[in-house]
Amino acid sequence: MKSALKWTGIILGTLTGVLLLGMLLLYGTGRSRLYKKYEVVVQGVPIPTDAEALDEGKRIFQYRGCEACHGEHLQGVVYLDNPALGQVITPNLTSGRGGIGSQRTDLDLIRAIKHGLRPDGTPLLFMPSTEFYFLSDEDLGKVLAYIRSLPPVDNEPRPSALSFSGFIAMNVVKSITFLPAELIPHDQPPPPAPKPAVTAAYGEYLSLSCKVCHGLTLSGGEIPGFPAEWPSAPNLTSGAGGRLPTWGEKGFIDILRDGEKHGLRINSLYMPWKSYRFMNDDELKAVYLYLMSLPPKEFGNR
Ligand code: HEC
Ligand code: HEC
Repeated sequence: MKSALKWTGIILGTLTGVLLLGMLLLYGTGRSRLYKKYEVVVQGVPIPTDAEALDEGKRIFQYRGCEACHGEHLQGVVYLDNPALGQVITPNLTSGRGGIGSQRTDLDLIRAIKHGLRPDGTPLLFMPSTEFYFLSDEDLGKVLAYIRSLPPVDNEPRPSALSFSGFIAMNVVKSITFLPAELIPHDQPPPPAPKPAVTAAYGEYLSLSCKVCHGLTLSGGEIPGFPAEWPSAPNLTSGAGGRLPTWGEKGFIDILRDGEKHGLRINSLYMPWKSYRFMNDDELKAVYLYLMSLPPKEFGNR
């Protein structure tokens, strides 16, 4: 009896040791990924100064989702606060107290937006540069002009910090992209962005973020890596179960503007229509054209 207990003890002890060692290794790997330095040659872009370009910059900042994550006054907001992962807080992008606006050169901002990197070359957490890598020079220039035009705001957000288990999750939960910089081909120029027009190609350029939730084929399904209580993303193609063909272009524009139409109410907590509603009619028409040009897929063929 005694020796059986002793053996159980030894086995449990060894297992705990192995588990702890494994966790420490994953933690260490997570840290080295977060502190890895990427050497990137950052290309500048012309920054316009006219009022029209500033207005456009604001609109792009809104419909690309920057405002939702960085705050209306660019003051910085808590993006994630979950003990299992840590705290991720967007910086104050203005030149007020606690802001980084006056410390960052234009190239620093471009490094962050297009490459997902800090000025020292280490990756930013959750900043979706995998999408913004594709931004045209014109759009990027307008966004920079808008950022630089905003008045200083005093706000001193804490720096982001992952928890111990957050570093482990970073290596285990493959469906969450903690460090978008890891997925960007930094040394290759992005393909030329399509010209603004009501074309499927321009619609695709505007729809890059939709794929995060509606899937690469945009046929919807359960969203990997998101909380289980979230609804699944609907099918946006014209395949079985897709509602867009019955709505038509106008019905599609209406629902993205108001979140409510056709007897449906889209929850903006799950579906960021409050950002997308800033697209103008031609842009939303291009998105619809693109969605309707996709191969029809049944729901959930992500
Ligand atoms: C899904 C949320 C999200 C969206 C959308 C987003 N950002 Fe960010 N951004 C972040 C987070 C989070 C950080 C800070 C990450 C960190 O602390 O590691 C960040 C950091 C930055 C920084 C880096 C500042 C520095 O430290 O040098 C800049 C600049 C920036 N974002 C600009 C933008 C712009 C411009 C857009 C839109 C084109 C945008 N962001 C869209 C989440 C977002
Ligand atoms: C963060 C995740 C997320 C992103 C990004 C996202 N969606 Fe959604 N979308 C959802 C979810 C979840 C729903 C279902 C919402 C609900 O049931 O309240 C939805 C619903 C919709 C609907 C209603 C469709 C129907 O059949 O009910 C449309 C249209 C739509 N999204 C279009 C888009 C477009 C276009 C984009 C990109 C420009 C986009 N979504 C980006 C998550 C997302």
